[in-house]
Amino acid sequence: MSIIEKALAKQQSKAAQKSEKTESGELYSPSKATINELDKKVALNLDKKGLQERGYLIDNGTRKSIKDEFRQIKRKLLNNAFGSASKMLHHSNLIMVSSAKPNEGKTFVAINLALSIALEQDKTVLLVDADVLRPSIIRELGVEETPGIIEYLLNDVTQVSEIIYNTDIDKLKLIPAGVPHHLSNELLASEKMAALASELANRYPDRIVIFDCPPLIGVTETLVLANLMGQALIVVEESKTAIADIKSATEHLNENLAIGLVLNKAIRSHKDLYGYYGYGYGATE
Ligand SMILES: Nc1ncnc2c1ncn2[C@@H]1O[C@H](COP(=O)(O)OP(=O)(O)OP(=O)(O)O)[C@@H](O)[C@H]1O
Ligand SMILES: [Mg+2]
Repeated sequence: MSIIEKALAKQQSKAAQKSEKTESGELYSPSKATINELDKKVALNLDKKGLQERGYLIDNGTRKSIKDEFRQIKRKLLNNAFGSASKMLHHSNLIMVSSAKPNEGKTFVAINLALSIALEQDKTVLLVDADVLRPSIIRELGVEETPGIIEYLLNDVTQVSEIIYNTDIDKLKLIPAGVPHHLSNELLASEKMAALASELANRYPDRIVIFDCPPLIGVTETLVLANLMGQALIVVEESKTAIADIKSATEHLNENLAIGLVLNKAIRSHKDLYGYYGYGYGATE
């Protein structure tokens, strides 16, 4: 071995010792770029008090009923994702949450599901704000706006790992929407989005990825997104969503998708029991 080769080998072994293994198993060498990247990996602090006040499932032992209901929905989704049914589904761990029309509770369901799955011992969940025209996950979670899907799809950010943020809830990761762009929805239907979905499905096969999506009626790109997923959860606002709307929202969904319906705000009148809204779930499959 020449002196130069020896010196290089020594340098490489030092670098390997200092390098840090990331959660995804990749080895980062301790370059300047890496340090910047690690800086960005500082966990986002969620506004847990605000979340709790607005009916979200923060684990403090309260709101038992809502917790139980999400637990049941979660079980079905986890079964589809990792159980025997998973073999019949393409990207079984990718789940879209959508609805026929706006304002039916998609974000509420997506966040609560993610929080519920994060309580599992051995599951990590990645929550993706794919409602890029009207992003609201960042606001609901009470965290600052940061680059997300839009920046990645516009090539402003090159690495997927740069838009996956840790949070102060151990098993919950987040991809925010980023700054809305005039082509936001078109970007969702791009090849790059399809490649991103595949990467998330295959790189983290033991992770559930929940996409908070735009509504199905009126946003054609939502159907394109649906083709990238293994499962779809359609939120139906009780006594508001018309059957005809549910039908027209779901009739063009890919028949290979495992589709579940969630009946939201079902028990509004039981204020004492359930807070100012209630929650129920409907049939799945
Ligand atoms: N079951 C529920 N219990 C309590 N609050 C709820 C419930 N469902 C929805 N909400 C509240 O209702 C409002 C609308 O819900 P949300 O934002 O989840 O709907 P959305 O379908 O995501 O709307 P958009 O189409 O604008 O994205 C929010 O303030 C949310 O916190
Ligand atoms: Mg929403």
